[in-house]
Amino acid sequence: MHKQFENQVVLVTGATAGIGRATALAFSREGARLVISGRNVEAGRRLQQELKALGAEAEFVPADVSQEDQLVHLLEHCLKRFGRLDIAVNSAGIEGQGGSIMEQTVETYTATFNANVLGTLLCLKHQLRVMSEQKSGAIVNLSSTMGSHGNPQAPLYVASKHAVEGLTKSAALEACRYGVRVNAVAPGPIATEMLDRIAGGAENLPKVAAGIPAGRIGRPEEVADAILFMASPRASYVTGEILHVSGGKTAM
Ligand SMILES: NC(=O)c1ccc[n+]([C@@H]2O[C@H](COP(=O)([O-])OP(=O)(O)OC[C@H]3O[C@@H](n4cnc5c(N)ncnc54)[C@H](O)[C@@H]3O)[C@@H](O)[C@H]2O)c1
Repeated sequence: MHKQFENQVVLVTGATAGIGRATALAFSREGARLVISGRNVEAGRRLQQELKALGAEAEFVPADVSQEDQLVHLLEHCLKRFGRLDIAVNSAGIEGQGGSIMEQTVETYTATFNANVLGTLLCLKHQLRVMSEQKSGAIVNLSSTMGSHGNPQAPLYVASKHAVEGLTKSAALEACRYGVRVNAVAPGPIATEMLDRIAGGAENLPKVAAGIPAGRIGRPEEVADAILFMASPRASYVTGEILHVSGGKTAM
């Protein structure tokens, strides 16, 4: 049976949990060779074993996306092992400190922006260096519905995801000349550890679901499907775009 990403080399950051993990699994089912990355070494090794058991070639390389030397090592490892990079999915991110702007500090700002903005910038920088040489590739960043809407409970997260969308559009314009596409997927509430933390426990999830037109929280696999589409040749004329996966929330 034809597999959509047969032999393609796919890098996923933040792959040890949630949306990144579901994305790595989805690419492996479509024949991709995977470089998975994250900070949690134990979870990364477990996922690597899981992917191998499914018949995929998979390498786990630990990296904190806000540390440039670790990203350089990650890309070097990818090139040494597979010789190229066809697709990159930048899923690493944190929800950061919520609450009023009046309670935020230099530390809460720095933590959120280091993971979400500096992390995305450094990923783009080093992935584009490889892809511009190759003259091919597709990158999908993770934004959020909060990348285009305000939220008084999460000002730093909102600001950081607006920045991710700005980086996505600017990188897309730069990368056009190399035949490289850069897009973002912007999920609404998705059932991952991050949402559990934001909601403050599983008991609050029905309240979150009630605020979504579709009447339910999304699954990480549903975001992975959108990411695979954006990375695929079916989206060959799509670049600099933000695809919302929000059960209708962004239509409100
Ligand atoms: N779950 C949601 O409701 C939701 C909604 C919109 C957007 N998003 C975005 O989707 C992405 C994935 O979220 P998720 O729900 O899977 O979160 P998650 O917390 O379940 O998983 C995120 C992963 O990223 C890793 N990570 C965080 N900071 C990192 C860093 N500096 N370097 C390397 N790895 C790092 C974490 O260790 C974890 O493995 C994030 O960018 C998030 O902002 C999530």
